[in-house]
Amino acid sequence: MSRLAPKGARISVLYSADEIATRVHALAADIVKSLGPEPLVVPVLKGSFIFAADLLRALHEAGAEPDMDFITLSSYGKGTRSLGKVTIVRDTEAAIAGRDVLLVDDILESGRTLAFAKDLMAARGAQRVMTCVLLDKPGKLAVDMKADFTGFDCPDRFVVGYGMDVAHAYRQLPFVGYIER
Ligand code: IMP
Ligand code: MG
Repeated sequence: MSRLAPKGARISVLYSADEIATRVHALAADIVKSLGPEPLVVPVLKGSFIFAADLLRALHEAGAEPDMDFITLSSYGKGTRSLGKVTIVRDTEAAIAGRDVLLVDDILESGRTLAFAKDLMAARGAQRVMTCVLLDKPGKLAVDMKADFTGFDCPDRFVVGYGMDVAHAYRQLPFVGYIER
């Protein structure tokens, strides 16, 4: 199935809005079981913002009373192992010490972004740090990193939609897809 996306490109649907919603609810139930009812949820912006918003509401439905804060990270030198460097564009504000932190990201690829965020939360004294990603691109890891909760194992394609972009476009799509060539 494919749909005509804005700006003319045709986008093939990889995970529909319904498939994502079902998976998000299952993830929330698993998260509450493992991390308890009062996690500090920290989305890694920007790509995770729609996933995190849906996950937060699913956590509520699963009986949790989460707090939320945000971090914006940027990674440079993608594809060049030795140059891969993550920087903080906008930091969290909440107290991290003693909290059960759930980091939420859109995609786990090299693992550098999430490994950086996890180390940062641990260094700030989090009691526990767990990680949740919507998509895992297997076989692309550059560091030792595995998400505690994964939505879908994603084919090795550049995906957009549901918050994820290419050059800041397509974040608004309600599904995850890839651009047809
Ligand atoms: P890494 O795990 O540090 O390599 O970084 C993963 C980040 O790269 C994700 O959070 C996304 O922001 C971005 N990214 C990786 N693959 C894709 C893709 O297919 N579409 C959109 N963004 C991607
Ligand atoms: Mg990202």
